[in-house]
Amino acid sequence: MSNSKDDGDGKITFTEDVIKSRLGKYGAVYFPSAIQESIDDILGNENIKEILHDFFKALKKYYEFSKRLKGAKLNPSLTVLLYGPPGTGKTSLTRGFAKHYDIPLCVVETDRLVSPLLGDTIKQIRNVVDLAAEIAKERGSFILFFDEIDAIGSERSNIHEVGEIKRAVISFLQVIDRINYEGVPLAIFGATNHQNQLDSAIWRRFTFHFSFEFPEYPLRKKIIESFLAKVKNAKIGVDNSIYTNLAEEYEMIQKIHSNLTSKLGYEISEFSDTLLWDEINKNNKNQGLLELTIGYSGSDIERGTKVSLLKAINTERLTYDLFYNSLKLVGGTAIHVERQDILTDSKQRFIKSSKNKQEKRYMKSPPEI
Ligand SMILES: Nc1ncnc2c1ncn2[C@@H]1O[C@H](COP(=O)(O)OP(=O)(O)OP(=O)(O)O)[C@@H](O)[C@H]1O
Ligand SMILES: [Mg+2]
Repeated sequence: MSNSKDDGDGKITFTEDVIKSRLGKYGAVYFPSAIQESIDDILGNENIKEILHDFFKALKKYYEFSKRLKGAKLNPSLTVLLYGPPGTGKTSLTRGFAKHYDIPLCVVETDRLVSPLLGDTIKQIRNVVDLAAEIAKERGSFILFFDEIDAIGSERSNIHEVGEIKRAVISFLQVIDRINYEGVPLAIFGATNHQNQLDSAIWRRFTFHFSFEFPEYPLRKKIIESFLAKVKNAKIGVDNSIYTNLAEEYEMIQKIHSNLTSKLGYEISEFSDTLLWDEINKNNKNQGLLELTIGYSGSDIERGTKVSLLKAINTERLTYDLFYNSLKLVGGTAIHVERQDILTDSKQRFIKSSKNKQEKRYMKSPPEI
C-alpha cells in the first residue's frame, strides 16, 4: 500500500520523509529550513527578483488569486523558464526564493525521466507532475524545478527516436495545461543552457522567461567583493591591495565607459561591442581583476576563490597575487562555450578576442599557485 494515501481524517500524509522518498528518485528535494542560500546571495538580476517576488506572493495566496482570475476567465499559470549560461545563479536563486517564501522544492534531473523504452518517458513525466500536484494540494504550495529541461524538449535530448521526443514534449505540455486548468498551487520551473534548441511549444508554455547572463563589470565587482567578504568571515585576512586595485580598476573603466557613452551618444554594454575594452586597452596596460574575469560566471568567481583558499588557509592571508592567479587558473566559462545557443555570436567573438589579447599581453606571467 502506498505510504502517502490519504486516510481521510485530515492527517498529513506527505510528511518530509514521504516526499523525500517518493520524489527523491527524480532529483533533489529541498525543504526551506535546510536551504542555505538566500535571495541576496545571488547578486544583480534585480528585475528578475522583483517579478519573482510577485510570483511567489501569488503562489502563497494561490486560491484567492486563482478565484479572481477565473472570474475573469483567465487561468493562472505559475510557470517560469530560466535560461542562460551555466553558473549564473538560476538554481541558487530559485532555492533562495523557496526558502524565503517557505515552500518546498524538488529539482528534477530531467534526463532521469528520459527512457529509451517507448512510452516510459511519458509515464515518468506524468508520475512526477502528478505526485508534485498532490503534494502541492496538501501542503498549500510546492515548486517543481525541471533542470536541463532540454533533455525532453530539444534535438539534443537523449531520446533518440524522433517520434518519442515529440510524444514526450506533447505529454509535458499536456500535464502543464492540466495543472493550470485544475488550479493546483504548484509552480513549475524549467531551466536550460540551450534555450535556442528548446522546442518552441515548450518555450511558449512557460508564462515567464528570465534570461541569466554572464555578469558585466559592475556586477563582477560586487560578486568578487561578496566572496572576499566570505573569506574574511572564515577569519582569513584579505590584503587591502585587492580592494584598492579593484576600486582603481573600476573607477578607470567607469570613466572610460562614460566618456565613450557621451562621445557615441548612446549607452553601450560591456559585451555588446568591443568598443569599451578596445578603448581601455589603448591606454591601460595593467590587467586587473575585472578585466581578467570577462566571461566569468558567478560560479567561476566562486571556484577561483575556493582555489585561493587552499593556500590562504595555511598562510591566513589572501594576497592580490594569490587571488588573481587563482581566478586566472580556474578560467571563465564563456571561453569554453563553443555553442552558439549559449552565447550570441557577437558576445562570443568579443569574449574570445578579448581573451586572446589578454593572453598576448600576459603570456610572460603564467599563474603561480
Ligand atoms: N549573480 C551571482 N551573484 C553571486 N553569486 C553567484 C551569482 N551567480 C552565480 N553565483 C554563484 O555560483 C553558484 C552556482 O550557481 P547556480 O548553480 O545557481 O547556477 P546555474 O545557473 O543554476 O548553473 P547551471 O546552468 O550549470 O545549472 C551560486 O551558488 C553562487 O555561489
Ligand atoms: Mg542549475
